[in-house]
Amino acid sequence: MKKPNLLLLLPMILLIAATIDFNDLPNYANQTVPNYITKDNTPNNNSITDEGATLGRVLFYDKNLSANNTIACASCHQQEFAFGDTETQSIGLNQGLTGRHSMRLVNSRFADEEGFFWDERAATLEAQTTQPIQDHVEMGFSGSDGDPDLDSLIRKLEDIDYYQSLFTLVFGDAQITEARMQSALAQFVRSIQSFDSKFDEGLAQVNNINQDFPNFSAEENDGKELYLAPPPAGGAGCQGCHRAPEFDIDPNSGNNGVVGVAGDPSSIDITNTRAPSLRDLVDPNGNLNGPLMHNGEFTSLEQVIDHYDQITVVNGNTNLDNRLAGGGGGGGGPQNLQLTQAEKDALVAFLHTLTGSDIYTNEKWSEPFDDAGNLTLLNDPLEIEEVSTVSEVSMFPNPTNGPLTIQLSGGNYQIELYSINGSHVSTIQTLQTTNVDLSDLQSGVYLVRVLDNNTGEASTKRILKN
Ligand code: HEC
Ligand code: HEC
Repeated sequence: MKKPNLLLLLPMILLIAATIDFNDLPNYANQTVPNYITKDNTPNNNSITDEGATLGRVLFYDKNLSANNTIACASCHQQEFAFGDTETQSIGLNQGLTGRHSMRLVNSRFADEEGFFWDERAATLEAQTTQPIQDHVEMGFSGSDGDPDLDSLIRKLEDIDYYQSLFTLVFGDAQITEARMQSALAQFVRSIQSFDSKFDEGLAQVNNINQDFPNFSAEENDGKELYLAPPPAGGAGCQGCHRAPEFDIDPNSGNNGVVGVAGDPSSIDITNTRAPSLRDLVDPNGNLNGPLMHNGEFTSLEQVIDHYDQITVVNGNTNLDNRLAGGGGGGGGPQNLQLTQAEKDALVAFLHTLTGSDIYTNEKWSEPFDDAGNLTLLNDPLEIEEVSTVSEVSMFPNPTNGPLTIQLSGGNYQIELYSINGSHVSTIQTLQTTNVDLSDLQSGVYLVRVLDNNTGEASTKRILKN
């Protein structure tokens, strides 16, 4: 393929929002995290990189990950709803409905709880990410009931050009494995963060969560106090489980008394002991980002507060958290806070301050495919033409573990080494055959450009460093 003329392409590029430029990846690796955020469940072997999260983003939005090419992760985790869904039960393959309500993916990284899903059944986020793909209803590569299995998905993805390029970008070669998909998807999900709320502005101003925030109304400050204080101290005790400033869930929480099953009023489900961060429950306009709880039972924050104000213990619920069963404010029975209407309103007002704006609009978390389902990669090294006008140049071994011989006919050459994302690594001036050592470089694809200083002829070759 010929290297495209960038000047001709420029007006076209402006029209296509959906592009990934290998020379200009979005920043995922060094996002700003406020200093008061201390929890982080990133494992040592899967730190977020710009390359990994970029691959994760493409996988997240790709309908090819479902057996009939209709469903992507993003079908049920939509950016405009803080990566949740307004449907009570999300629609999967062939109009099938999920058994539980979809979860907002907000600040998943900043939490002590490592078990994912409402019932914590996935041991890590990495393990979680390929479960929807293998779910019969969600994406359909279950390998049972006549469904194709995960290996057939991997073979399907191997035939897609952009995955050849993207997996090479991240891992140095194009091989696709479940572990690699998990690593990239988890990096992308962990990158989704929201720290530009009114709450964050207030906390940054006073640096003490227990002090009134100057940017809050009196009602919002009252709500904050109620949220933080335990029931014996006249509070609502939310902080005991949804711990500010991350608003992540206490890993030891039992269930909260909501035990209904979506679409099945006669059953109960007492296993739901996890909640996503309580940030971005509502959007910047104050509208709910979807119904609340594992069964989507509540359609307003007022209903949530009413629930906690007076807990009803359903017959058979043996997993109700002690903090709610022990009679906070009510003398022995289940929690009965007897909140006044003004206190309820204050709690709702406070929950509204936990909403940011960047998460809804930042392009780096948005759909990378265009309306026709195409993905445009710019400066993709695998597409860069291996031109050679220099008459005799050869490079070996390729791939290499480090030593590389560049064989040239006698002359006067300048050799430039570039990394796959276009950054310049080194320059070597040489008269003829030269040996270079790439041992110190990270594994991956590099471009070696040889310029003949006498004739101006150039040659570019790809080298894979193991
Ligand atoms: C058909 C809808 C649907 C699709 C497709 C889907 N999800 Fe989900 N997702 C859900 C539902 C429903 C839950 C909660 C399920 C449960 O707890 O049993 C969930 C939960 C999650 C969670 C757990 C969040 C937490 O805080 O515990 C993560 C992470 C997640 N999904 C990521 C993904 C990824 C990555 C993909 C694509 C590979 C994906 N989802 C595809 C509906 C979907
Ligand atoms: C004993 C621990 C505990 C306490 C105390 C508690 N919660 Fe929860 N909360 C949970 C659990 C567990 C869930 C998930 C339950 C489910 O979906 O079945 C949850 C879910 C929620 C949700 C729904 C989240 C979503 O994404 O759908 C909201 C909102 C919420 N709690 C707000 C509050 C407020 C406000 C308070 C204080 C009045 C509070 N919680 C007190 C444990 C607790």
